[in-house]
Amino acid sequence: MSETLRLGVNIDHVATIRNARGIRHPDPVRAAAIAVRAGADGITAHLREDRRHISDGDIATLTDVLSVPLNFEMAATDEMLEIALRHKPHAVCLVPEKRQELTTEGGLDAAGQHNRLKHIISALTDSGSRVSLFIDADQAQLDAALSLGAPVTEIHTGRYCDLTGEARAEELERIKKAVAYGSAAGLEMHAGHGLSYATVTDIAAIPEIKELNIGHFLIGEAIFHGLETAIVEMRRLMDEARAA
Ligand code: PXP
Repeated sequence: MSETLRLGVNIDHVATIRNARGIRHPDPVRAAAIAVRAGADGITAHLREDRRHISDGDIATLTDVLSVPLNFEMAATDEMLEIALRHKPHAVCLVPEKRQELTTEGGLDAAGQHNRLKHIISALTDSGSRVSLFIDADQAQLDAALSLGAPVTEIHTGRYCDLTGEARAEELERIKKAVAYGSAAGLEMHAGHGLSYATVTDIAAIPEIKELNIGHFLIGEAIFHGLETAIVEMRRLMDEARAA
């Protein structure tokens, strides 16, 4: 059996529900504690420029109370850099961000934004955070991540999850190829976005992947079965895929 695959639980959408009422319930920090109890190896939170879900206060509290690593997702902006340098999260995942998008659509253009990213990655690394770039399964982007000195890349699985049939099978091959390439070149490979019980197995079975980050589906499923049950089931499917 290959090494255990880590699960990072993204708690953004607990905050989305909280913010719908502008009150304190449901508290994403409480969700993080339940996620850890259920087997999450880390907690992921995306502080968006428009603060539509996670707030600055959530990040401050998570940094103080979490017993597992915090993976802080952020856009490559000066404002977010300043926040990350203040809190020094275990990991920072740089993501592209467009104000109007519903969720992170597509990966970061690491190749096209080389100079801007170089300065941000160096500052985060010097501050002790492990930097990850959220990119599409594309060799040019992996090469850019390598030349930028990012130790980790997270491959965007959203397209894979949205596709069906032959197109999905082709996207899976593209992801496998990219993961093998990145891993052989020395990058730690993560994956995430859009994963559910129905789509996690083939991604979790890719042996070089070390971590999956999953949010929306787990929070949605929690409405019906509870967060702990949803995470335990996701963990079971991931472990089963790894053991196969
Ligand atoms: N990984 C990254 C980099 C993301 O931006 C997101 C969404 O915030 C996820 C993983 C989790 O995606 P989902 O909520 O669709 O599971």
